[in-house]
Amino acid sequence: MSEAFDVVDLIRAKRDGRPVSADAVDWLIDAYTHGRIADEQMSAYLMAVVWRGMAPDELHRWTTAMIDSGERLDLAGIGRPTVDKHSTGGVGDKVSLVLVPLVAACGVAVPQLSGRGLGHTGGTLDKMESIAGWQAELPPGRMRRQLADIGAVICAAGGGLAPADRRLYALRDVTGTVESIPLIASSIMSKKIAEGTSALVLDVKVGAGAFLPAIADARLLARTMVDLGTAAGVRTEALLTAMDVPLGRTAGNALEVAEAVETLRGGGPADLIEITVTLARMMIELADSSGNQVDRVDPAQVLASGAAYPVWQAMVAAQGGDPAAVLPHASTVAVLPAPVSGYLTRLDARAVGIAAWRLGAGRARKEDPVSPVAGVRWHAGLGDPVVAGEPLLELHTDDPAALGRARAALADAITIAPEVPPVTVPPLILERVRA
Ligand code: URA
Repeated sequence: MSEAFDVVDLIRAKRDGRPVSADAVDWLIDAYTHGRIADEQMSAYLMAVVWRGMAPDELHRWTTAMIDSGERLDLAGIGRPTVDKHSTGGVGDKVSLVLVPLVAACGVAVPQLSGRGLGHTGGTLDKMESIAGWQAELPPGRMRRQLADIGAVICAAGGGLAPADRRLYALRDVTGTVESIPLIASSIMSKKIAEGTSALVLDVKVGAGAFLPAIADARLLARTMVDLGTAAGVRTEALLTAMDVPLGRTAGNALEVAEAVETLRGGGPADLIEITVTLARMMIELADSSGNQVDRVDPAQVLASGAAYPVWQAMVAAQGGDPAAVLPHASTVAVLPAPVSGYLTRLDARAVGIAAWRLGAGRARKEDPVSPVAGVRWHAGLGDPVVAGEPLLELHTDDPAALGRARAALADAITIAPEVPPVTVPPLILERVRA
């Protein structure tokens, strides 16, 4: 078959920073998705994008072509406004587990299509799968019904949604081309727009444990994604949130589910509550400004009252899970005591994430299994007093041989100030990016 474009010409154009036409972008995505462009050619093109970036029109077209490579879910007619949330990924980030039932309890439906973890940050599906019987796969018809009935769904994105991204992401993962703002933005937004939500809130993490540690990069990513969503007719806003310290008190699949449940029942750590409630308020506001009738309830009160917990139970049960089942426990728990007395002034999120990963909570390759029980629990948050010899960290695993490497990851993760400090806990919520 004769092709409309010569891929080598397009690689040269991108390499040299010359414009690439809208038709050429459509062709590139279509031809690569259908196997008419070789991996090595698309790798070269992607590396040129890493260096040269994309013009706004070009990025918009690239994202639209990725959406058009597959199906677009239609969530109209479920009887409630829909709003989703996406996080760029942090350590101990179990926000979705609390936020999805909470926003549903406030009258807004949340169709959350999630992914699995890669590297030192965990994935929502891996966490949910530590609940006995819970199924991540949900056909679109059942997803719509669950959304209409319960208002809350967390499930795997089906293969029909943005298949171009599936191929491109797998290639980027092995060619050093993940770290590009236009490629990250188009990858995330193509899936979120295709899922059919009418509004979207993005939690863009900043700091040591984040995918993009520098605030300038996180801000640019947030702005790029908000613009892409808005151009596609999805009301989109972003929140920049700090990820220097891991969120809550646990990192690891079943450990995080237990902490999420505690929070849904009206307890839970203050940082997790603050971020969840802030995102919930934004989501409800966006649903409201879409012309939907949304009861103005305060998510902070709903969460504290425990009223989101029955929604969680219904959501888990609808996907085969037993919300009353006891979560699995690790066979080995090693306790690391505080080396000195004082006040905790630093707990490095990346180090905690790597330790949890080495204990078995995360995967190095997509096909690796994850341990539901592995992870880290910390007994103090930033600014809290700690006492020499008292437990500070717990390492949970079924593989005692992993303990040494996890301890090594944590060797320089903690700072304890010896005297009563002027410990100013840095803010968690940094900036809001509006359309
Ligand atoms: N998550 C995605 O879905 N895509 C990226 O490119 C990076 C993170």
